[in-house]
Amino acid sequence: MGIKIKIKIITLVISILVISACSNNNSKPEKEMEHSTMGQDMEEMHHDMMEGHMSHDEVVMLNDSTGENELKIPSMLERDDGEGVVYTVRAQKGKTEIFDGTESITYGYNGPFLGPMLRFDKGDKVKIRTINELDEETTFHWHGLEVAGDVDGGPHDALKPGEEKVIEFEVAQEASTLWFHPHPEGKTAEQVYNGLAGLIYIEDDNSKSLGLPNDYGKNDIPLIFQDRTFDDRKQLNYSAAMNEDGTIGDTLLINGTVNPKLSVNKEKVRLRLLNGSNARNYTFKLNTGDSFVQIATDGGFLNEPFTLKEVTLTPSERAEIVVDFSQLNSENDLALINEDGSVLLPFEVSDKSGVISRIPGEMNDFSLTEEEMDLPVTKKVELFGMMDMVEINGKKFDPDRIDFTQQQGVTEVWEIYNKPDMMGGMIHPFHIHGAQFKIISRDGKAPPENERGWKDSFSIKPDERVKIAIQFKHKGVFMFHCHILEHEDNGMMGQVKVE
Ligand code: C2O
Ligand code: CU
Ligand code: CU
Repeated sequence: MGIKIKIKIITLVISILVISACSNNNSKPEKEMEHSTMGQDMEEMHHDMMEGHMSHDEVVMLNDSTGENELKIPSMLERDDGEGVVYTVRAQKGKTEIFDGTESITYGYNGPFLGPMLRFDKGDKVKIRTINELDEETTFHWHGLEVAGDVDGGPHDALKPGEEKVIEFEVAQEASTLWFHPHPEGKTAEQVYNGLAGLIYIEDDNSKSLGLPNDYGKNDIPLIFQDRTFDDRKQLNYSAAMNEDGTIGDTLLINGTVNPKLSVNKEKVRLRLLNGSNARNYTFKLNTGDSFVQIATDGGFLNEPFTLKEVTLTPSERAEIVVDFSQLNSENDLALINEDGSVLLPFEVSDKSGVISRIPGEMNDFSLTEEEMDLPVTKKVELFGMMDMVEINGKKFDPDRIDFTQQQGVTEVWEIYNKPDMMGGMIHPFHIHGAQFKIISRDGKAPPENERGWKDSFSIKPDERVKIAIQFKHKGVFMFHCHILEHEDNGMMGQVKVE
């Protein structure tokens, strides 16, 4: 019997003990558990089980933002001089004053922490000089971008310290908010945790003609949500904070800002939400209970704006929402909060009325065709496991194994199933590289209205079955994986070869 299986069995036995101890209303065995080495895990697991599911990300609540720091807005990356659309992106190590008066060691692109925003127009032929200035291997992955496998920056494309690589691609997809981050095998979680993440905006004729708020940093605001744990010396100590089931923390950074607030005018403000966390899920709401409008999914605009009171994003998912501050009562302390009521982002609304904009009723022509809905399932993906015992179709990632092949330009239906374990299981965010796809159904039913748009990642609950229609426009080897970064590093990843 393998050691992992043994641990799992021991884990199960202990959990059963905890459950029965609990139902007896006897706290003693639970206390004793604290002395065992697995004590802390067991306590968390116990908490999760009481909630009826296995998920670590609701165990540690986020501290409320005090709002003492104005939200930082990532700078827009300037093009290099010379012909065409050329950028230089460097991964580097640095020091950042996240907390006043202390420097934290961080990673970043073209700066010590996080990265700039890369703005492309549809049709651009882009050249990016990627440079690894770290003292470890890294890759440059363009999450959500439809590009060929050899420029996608998956684990096969590692650059050694000091190495550089020029990549070229044409932006052929519609307006959307994408992002980039590293993807080295087994090290993605730590590098992202340390700060490697940046934004990509794609604009096109449609996005420019819709009249949506688009004044970057004023009424068009990117919000990268990342929870972290800081040690006593205010350092991001990944190995201390690390959890095999997904590293979470009690401190929220938005665009790298701790205790952020956002100052806005009385106008419609577009918030581009990106869950850039290693593992935490967020359900975003306004503290007043007011509704807002979702206009875009991961890969493009929804056909129509969709009014809602909350939106949930699992790691790597994006949503663009518009909040109308001219309609909200700003006498109240307005804030964006999460499902626990933690204050994520207080808003300071000025008296100035800003730009008057209207959200058009029609924004896109996304459709799921009859043919796509009728296609048979040709690829099955089964997600299973927890901690470091995660797998896809019973296997862990092997860089030398191709799990699926698919023809370029041919739509196929993939069915992703999240197989529960004896303790229920947990939500996995599932992501595929190199393509935007359509969700056909969730457990046989049409997806919710705000998932009827281009997606590259989605959440999948235990025992849920999700069907998607996916077509790759480019050849190459592409990863598909759980976007809980520790699960990905632990091998919950496979490869599809497009030929
Ligand atoms: Cu966000 Cu494999 O990627
Ligand atoms: Cu990706
Ligand atoms: Cu997972």
